[in-house]
Amino acid sequence: MQLEFENEYNPKYDEYEKIYLALMKKTFKRLKIKADYEVDVSLINNERIHEINKEYRHIDRPTDVISFAFLDEVEGEVKIKGSIPTLLGEIFISVDKALEQAKSYGHSIKREMCFLFVHGLLHLLGYDHMKKEDEVVMFSLQEEILKGEVFMTDEELIELAKEARKLAYTPYSHFKVGAVVVTKDGNHFLGANIENASYPLCMCAERNALYHTYMNGYKKDDIAILALVADTEDVCSPCGACRQVISELFPREGKIIMGNLKGKIKETSVEELLPFAFDSSDL
Ligand code: THU
Repeated sequence: MQLEFENEYNPKYDEYEKIYLALMKKTFKRLKIKADYEVDVSLINNERIHEINKEYRHIDRPTDVISFAFLDEVEGEVKIKGSIPTLLGEIFISVDKALEQAKSYGHSIKREMCFLFVHGLLHLLGYDHMKKEDEVVMFSLQEEILKGEVFMTDEELIELAKEARKLAYTPYSHFKVGAVVVTKDGNHFLGANIENASYPLCMCAERNALYHTYMNGYKKDDIAILALVADTEDVCSPCGACRQVISELFPREGKIIMGNLKGKIKETSVEELLPFAFDSSDL
């Protein structure tokens, strides 16, 4: 499958290329779609979506999302030879509208941007909400696909890690670290470093956050994100011991966000932090 992403709105929203591709994969997996489809998605403003709405739907006002389906029948009927993807359709999303709607619903812009994409994509796949019974099917699918996504921004996650940092017990190093683990069902668990007069017994923030998560019944595959923060020059990166624990308790596809108090943020992964890790397969 392929996603052609165009961002006419603002480079700030470039990250949605990756997010939308992941949502497209998730949707296709859920609907067991195997054909090699391409979807084109454009991020535009209210003025542009107003023009499109007027020209093609004869509705003289801006809207949040418009999709144009290019195929009447999806899957099964379409036999694809070779590796050329069939264009399923185009989705136009007004970021202006998404910003307005996120504010009025009181949820994050990311939640709204993801909702609009999945909504548009389901339209391309033949779903609609004209009749009540169709609406129930389409809306419950949307909910199901969006469930398990984390809609907090990196900045919001670092804010949570800063809250955790306030709980650090550091009479020896005075170096406070805060961490948070976010689970796929939207819960989060804090961790801070807790020190001891017997120095080797000091426990890091990241491990505390992970253990805290496990102690609430969650396992590796339930986890989506780990974020950490400290008062460092560059972002704070996990120590070697934490990397070893992360590589066992944190999922490989999970996102790790490192930050500092000055607002610097970097994203990394288990693989990047600890390549060639020693694990149970080595025993
Ligand atoms: N520390 C963490 O909590 N996480 C890290 O990744 C680096 C180090 C803590 C351990 C100790 O309490 C203090 O920072 C100084 O090493």
